[in-house]
Amino acid sequence: MASNGENGRHQEVGHKSLLQSDALYQYILETSVYPREPEAMKELREITAKHPWNLMTTSADEGQFLNMLLKLINAKNTMEIGVFTGYSLLATAMALPDDGKILAMDINRDNYEIGLPVIEKAGLAHKIEFREGPALPVLDQMIEDGKYHGSYDFIFVDADKDNYLNYHKRLIDLVKVGGLIGYDNTLWNGSVVAPPDAPLRKYVRYYRDFVLELNKALAADPRIEICQLPVGDGITLCRRIS
Ligand SMILES: C[S@@+](CC[C@H](N)C(=O)[O-])C[C@H]1O[C@@H](n2cnc3c(N)ncnc32)[C@H](O)[C@@H]1O
Repeated sequence: MASNGENGRHQEVGHKSLLQSDALYQYILETSVYPREPEAMKELREITAKHPWNLMTTSADEGQFLNMLLKLINAKNTMEIGVFTGYSLLATAMALPDDGKILAMDINRDNYEIGLPVIEKAGLAHKIEFREGPALPVLDQMIEDGKYHGSYDFIFVDADKDNYLNYHKRLIDLVKVGGLIGYDNTLWNGSVVAPPDAPLRKYVRYYRDFVLELNKALAADPRIEICQLPVGDGITLCRRIS
């Protein structure tokens, strides 16, 4: 959840900091992230900060991380589940080559349309195919089609946590061997280590068990190598090896 930094800025960006102090997180943002944030991403971040659900957005440091990661792996064909206003989508679109592609899915098109003018202005909309609706049936259809097996370089999952394991069962087939799946929020506000009687918000408590189950399943899955990073709300990178 947003924490109240000395200057309240965490609240503004809706960040779920896992660092030991707000000051340290603010230091990262001000020293390394904001000075290098592309104008379009800054604009979208500021628009999103005014949204009543701004807490859902990917943080600027995680956006910077995703952008760098996608360039490092030379990603071209990607997928995103959970778009909201499009901050991580824009970070992805900026990292891909001009003929790169992102299949972007969300049950809510209205929020995507808030960010779309910024993406269009940046000349990146042609890389995006947005599909409104639940992602799971789309994945099932793709698997049934047979054309998409092992075709994705990178897949970012940032939507309904209670379906992450269902996504994983399908995505492991769609990502290529050597490709990456990134699961967001795998430290779930730090609640993964909260004692059973900790006073957690209802939705944090509800999704916590799914996140715990996912983390165990990923650690035991021999088809992937994993790396869990305390960036944003925790992101687990899974590299398909078989
Ligand atoms: C945490 S937000 C995504 C944040 C986004 N990555 C960003 O950078 O701002 C989660 C999104 O998942 C979407 N969502 C929830 N259930 C979904 C489902 N079954 N299929 C696709 N999207 C879903 C929500 O509408 C919401 O926009």
